[in-house]
Amino acid sequence: MASIVETDAPTREIPQGTAYGRPLQQPDAALTQVGPGTPMGELMRRYWQPVLASRNVTTRPREVRILGEDLIIFRNGEGQPGLLYPRCMHRGTSLIWGHVEPDGIRCCYHGWKFAVDGQCIEQPCEPNPHLCRPEHRQPWYPVAERYGLVWAYMGPPERMPVLPRFDSLEPLEEGEDYLAFDNSLGSHGDMNGPDVVPYSWLHMNDNVMDPFHVQVLHTTFSGTQFVREFAVMPTVEFEEIDGGVIYKAHRDLEDGRHVNRVSTWVTPNVMCVPDVAMRPGRPNGIGFSVPVDDSHSRILMCMRTSLTPDGRRPMRGLEAEKFKPWHQRTVEERQDQPGDYEAQAGQGPISLHSEEHLVTSDKGVAMQRRALRRAMDTVAAGGHPPGVAFDDADATIHLPSGNYYSG
Ligand code: FES
Ligand SMILES: [Fe+2]
Repeated sequence: MASIVETDAPTREIPQGTAYGRPLQQPDAALTQVGPGTPMGELMRRYWQPVLASRNVTTRPREVRILGEDLIIFRNGEGQPGLLYPRCMHRGTSLIWGHVEPDGIRCCYHGWKFAVDGQCIEQPCEPNPHLCRPEHRQPWYPVAERYGLVWAYMGPPERMPVLPRFDSLEPLEEGEDYLAFDNSLGSHGDMNGPDVVPYSWLHMNDNVMDPFHVQVLHTTFSGTQFVREFAVMPTVEFEEIDGGVIYKAHRDLEDGRHVNRVSTWVTPNVMCVPDVAMRPGRPNGIGFSVPVDDSHSRILMCMRTSLTPDGRRPMRGLEAEKFKPWHQRTVEERQDQPGDYEAQAGQGPISLHSEEHLVTSDKGVAMQRRALRRAMDTVAAGGHPPGVAFDDADATIHLPSGNYYSG
């Protein structure tokens, strides 16, 4: 009987590096999980986080999800914003069906009324409707407004810092006002995808310390989405600053000038990118990559800008402004000219960090992640994370970003 083993078979080349038998890959849970009690969730909760643009917080209650928590946001008739746990403390229906009154929100079911600080101020079915017990308080979070944004503090009350200020947003110059966006679109003239993007906050956070993708994705791969100057591959230095990381991307331009483009990232999710039309000087805006939950996020932005007479932001002369808005583009058009949304959504809802291969050009990303780990350790050890202040005199965060020309 013939053997089935071909002992004298010619030597064949065995394919290497195939996909067969790969180990299961994992996200980095410490960096991406943001719910209560997780290391990153607790770090994020030590900072005021922007929730929505002020203009989108109205007397119509609205559901909002942030840091993995479902909440109701509204503005009472006196103009004060409120952020409450959604399930009415009486018997649990949602306050999304409530009606806003001058001093609070009234639950639809039995009419309990809650002030913006959660205190129950009326129980109309009770013998004495205004004699509410102090412990009848709907869970709530402190909110504040600045720069056209509504901010929330969702951390331990005794550790609540003062609301931050950012030097690139102050002072307003003659004719300027603040313009804020909460729909992930403001930065790229409607290039960026849906309001809430279906991926981890870390994708955008990584992106801001990645000066090289600007040359590839935004210029040589997809055509010029910003300006031609980005076609020059930059020489980049990354530097640690107090509580953050900056990069200095140097380019020698065709016209003989040299430009040093400085971007700043500050713990945990503050992004300050210079003007993408490469106008000289410091930028007039900042952004935040805010976790909605582990696998969704929202990019909020705020800028100082002089508005056109009809209240619109002037166009910035970017190539992106000639493109079709993201919502109108076909899949094929998005394949032909992908932008940040495609690249970041392409990384999946939560990237598989165990299969990444970080190289020299990812140094900024590695530095950010180290800074985040240090800050998480500080919080876990009972300390204050970098950048929080407890006195208004110390509240201003310095952002050295800008397009600096010479030659
Ligand atoms: S469930 Fe809200 S008042 Fe009864
Ligand atoms: Fe980008």
